Amino acid sequence: MDTVMIFDTTLRDGEQAAGCRIGAGEKLRIAHQLAGLGVNIIEAGFPCSSPEDFEAVRLIAREVRTPVICALSRAVATDIEACGKALTQAARPRIHTGIGVSDIHIMGKFKPEKYGHTLAEKRETTITMAVTAVQKARQYVDEVEFYAEDAGRADPAFLFLMLEAVIAAGAGVVNIPDTTGYAVPPRYGQLIRSIGEHVPNINQALISVHCHDDLGLAVANSLAGIENGARQIECTINGIGERAGNAALEEVVMALNTRRDHYGVSTEINTREFYRTSRMVAEAMGMTIPANKAVIGDNAFSHSSGIHVDGFLKERQTYEIMHPEDVGFPKSRVVLTARTGRHGVFHRFAELGMQLSDDEKEQVYARFLQVADQKQEVSDDDLIALINDEISLQPREYHLAAFKVACETGRQPSAQVQVSHGDAFLTAEALGDGPVDAAYKAIAQAVEIHPAILRYEIQAVTEGTDALGRVMVQMDHNGRRVLGRGASTDIIEASIKAYLDGLNRLENN
Ligand code: KIV
Ligand code: ZN
Repeated sequence: MDTVMIFDTTLRDGEQAAGCRIGAGEKLRIAHQLAGLGVNIIEAGFPCSSPEDFEAVRLIAREVRTPVICALSRAVATDIEACGKALTQAARPRIHTGIGVSDIHIMGKFKPEKYGHTLAEKRETTITMAVTAVQKARQYVDEVEFYAEDAGRADPAFLFLMLEAVIAAGAGVVNIPDTTGYAVPPRYGQLIRSIGEHVPNINQALISVHCHDDLGLAVANSLAGIENGARQIECTINGIGERAGNAALEEVVMALNTRRDHYGVSTEINTREFYRTSRMVAEAMGMTIPANKAVIGDNAFSHSSGIHVDGFLKERQTYEIMHPEDVGFPKSRVVLTARTGRHGVFHRFAELGMQLSDDEKEQVYARFLQVADQKQEVSDDDLIALINDEISLQPREYHLAAFKVACETGRQPSAQVQVSHGDAFLTAEALGDGPVDAAYKAIAQAVEIHPAILRYEIQAVTEGTDALGRVMVQMDHNGRRVLGRGASTDIIEASIKAYLDGLNRLENN
């Protein structure tokens, strides 16, 4: 049976989703988890785009040894050089370079001074640039993948010529992106099939599919590609990515597994790691997973109507095509209490895939005890939120020292907040539209930084009025965007912590 390669681009295309930017340390933690999930290739970033992304690729290339580590570049020498440098220590490096191939891209983006005036001239320059880029990338690494950007809307005849040229230049994988999510499954499948039929040297390369979800068809298009000869799928955890996102990794893999009778291919993915990976990515990127999300949403395995529950209890298969344990859903979600003890709690950290140092474990355990006293039972989701809240990968400049909020019918809410910064204590008081608004105004005054709040989201981690509240706040300061997170059983405290986490990230990024 053929094996389909799973190319994970959560840390590159996924991170391009609005508001999802994360730091190198967090990327490394996710990359380790992706390696445990068994992905074949990790696209770790776009080194030329920023020093932080360069560092992320370098770190991941050095530390994560099993999968191929890939870096993205345009068909530009400086981009490729940055990839080569960032990947120096990788065990199995790959450079992913490419250029736009649709007439819309060629005529719309490429300037006449550099590319020529007519479509024919511009197409010729595009092929030359693509070939030069692949040859240059091959000077750094043995594995070069070429992406034909906007292939989904390109003239197939031109696409075939381009692919033939880049394969001849040394590309071992050719990526056929539906960059704008315009394709529909039968046509995209046909495009992949026609590449197999019309590109003379295609047997020297693997065909990869890379589909965006603008019409909700990314997974269907990717599967159509597999049916027609592609053997690599580019996808992201939870389907995050540019605009409406990419094909969801967990969905394509479970479709291939569950309907192996139809597709006749396998993957090397350890599907039991899906739940854990999905929650880790959602937490890090501040993207909430809808309850009805296929495969890993909270309701994906919940049966509630009478007829369904009755049938399910009699025979599981009546209403279940996959088992929750196959994708790693925790069997019991509420078991830890203040009496569980250190050993039990540390064991659960390991089960959740959280690699913590001894000091970090003790730090989270102290916090766990406080929460367990307040809410009796602490779920896995609570624990993940606590770990993320407690173990910030950023050095902390600002700490919450104390706060007081006052809300009363007929009066404007007010807040007094004290923040420690080195040896200094900064205090301010403000009125606001609500207690959170008042607290944020007070902090901004105290620290003399006034970021714009782009998004504020609060979520109860579990059910009940004693639930841990998790807050995400996206802020912008002088064009720099960060996502701050905080968790507490007190939602005002969680909000303040999220704001301070955002300020700490602004200081350190
Ligand atoms: O969607 C796209 O075309 C891409 C390429 C850069 C591979 O993400
Ligand atoms: Zn993409």
